[in-house]
Amino acid sequence: MEAHLQRGVPGFSIVGLPDKACQEAKERVRSGITSAELEWPLRRITVNLAPAGLRKEGSGFDLPIALAILAASHQIPAERLAQHAALGELALDGRVRPVPGALVAAEAARRAGLDRLICPPESAPEAVLAGIEPVAVQHLAEAGAYLRGAREPAPVVPAERSNGAGGPDLADVRGQERARRALELSAAGRHNLLLAGPPGTGKTMLARRLPSILPPMTAAEAIEVTRISSVGGLHHGGGLATERPFRAPHHTVSASGLVGGGAQPTPGEATLAHHGVLFLDELSEFARPSLEALRQPLEDGHVTIVRGQKVMAFPTRFMLVAASNPCPCGLGGDECTCSTADLARHHRRLSGPLLDRIDVLVAVGRPAAGALRDEQAPRSAAVRERVVAARERQADRLGSHGLTCNAQMPARLLREHAEATPSALRLLYELHDRHRLSARGHGRVLRVARTLADLDDSPTVGPEHITLAAALRLETTALAAAA
Ligand SMILES: Nc1ncnc2c1ncn2[C@@H]1O[C@H](COP(=O)(O)OP(=O)(O)O)[C@@H](O)[C@H]1O
Ligand SMILES: [Mg+2]
Ligand SMILES: [Zn+2]
Repeated sequence: MEAHLQRGVPGFSIVGLPDKACQEAKERVRSGITSAELEWPLRRITVNLAPAGLRKEGSGFDLPIALAILAASHQIPAERLAQHAALGELALDGRVRPVPGALVAAEAARRAGLDRLICPPESAPEAVLAGIEPVAVQHLAEAGAYLRGAREPAPVVPAERSNGAGGPDLADVRGQERARRALELSAAGRHNLLLAGPPGTGKTMLARRLPSILPPMTAAEAIEVTRISSVGGLHHGGGLATERPFRAPHHTVSASGLVGGGAQPTPGEATLAHHGVLFLDELSEFARPSLEALRQPLEDGHVTIVRGQKVMAFPTRFMLVAASNPCPCGLGGDECTCSTADLARHHRRLSGPLLDRIDVLVAVGRPAAGALRDEQAPRSAAVRERVVAARERQADRLGSHGLTCNAQMPARLLREHAEATPSALRLLYELHDRHRLSARGHGRVLRVARTLADLDDSPTVGPEHITLAAALRLETTALAAAA
């Protein structure tokens, strides 16, 4: 941030590709400086945002612009300011407001070798995470006083840390033993999941509880998630994110809403769900182009967006959970009132771009009244322990290939590492012949069976694991046929 004052007709211009919000900083900065009982220099003021060729966006430059002008007019010492980064929007009365992306800005400031970040109190925890010392200020006047040496920065209160086990608990779900097992299986192998069943059977409820049984985030994952939610403006001042994200975009979402895009590329739902869960409720209602757009990010774990000369890569390593009615009328089975044409259209839409990326398909039925009354489901914490143990076994087995979980195993590694017993393989080939399983379907059954074995702490995949994995696959027969 450079500011230059010249004699001549008083005026104020900002150069260096500021966007509209950044251009409007002029009014907020002028008003903020006056309200802070500092002096607005009656000169020709030029502020340059360097490097001049890079577009600057947003209101976070307000505070730095104000400080640069105060330094240029000798109201604060320029040498002292030079060791500081600053970030924040100014209110007309000089108060400092938080802006999205404080963590990323703080990390950049630290990389640039600066010692301290002057920012609103809400952003201070993110500065701490980035390893730069925050100077929390509520008002421009406080920043001025601090830089003149007239005031020490207020101590930063560390944000409370949770263990990431917040959110709704699996024990809330009554009955649905099989669906809960399928959820656990998906979490254990990181397999994408489809829940198919009539409305009101708890599909949405189950999906929302997936983050609570996934392994706690590693420190590196937590930082990435915090960075993304900070940039997305979802996370003001909470310090480190501890809960895995859960994103449930409406089925009217556009392709760029899902995977990111726009004139100034912004991350989409797939990135906001990074290291967490992307839930597509009513899968068959999503527009085909949106689902097509999701295919590549799902496969690659990142999405590349090209706009003009800018190329941006956003991470998209999420677990996909989809829910669907069995058919358009929602009743399914014998009660179904759909026409053949309706059913065909429904299956066409489901079978589209994503179904062959989903390892676990499970039919969720109406629970019996007795099950709803009596069965007490285990708590998420207990299920999570089993999931974590199964993941550790996978990491031990696959670590040397740079993989962490069964869902990532390509066909080649699958043959090598599934450790299926001869009788399990025999059964698999039998199923293959009997149900005309595709090669992909075949691999998927074996992959899921490997996770079932990991949940059992069994070094080998036995016939019982194959039977269960195939049943999960085949019970939604219409769907399986479509896949
Ligand atoms: N198995 C269940 N256990 C407890 N409550 C349930 C169950 N299934 C459905 N419900 C109740 O019904 C409501 C609707 O469930 P929901 O998950 O939205 O169904 P779906 O997504 O299958 O249409 C939930 O908010 C919950 O109160
Ligand atoms: Mg629902
Ligand atoms: Zn129907």
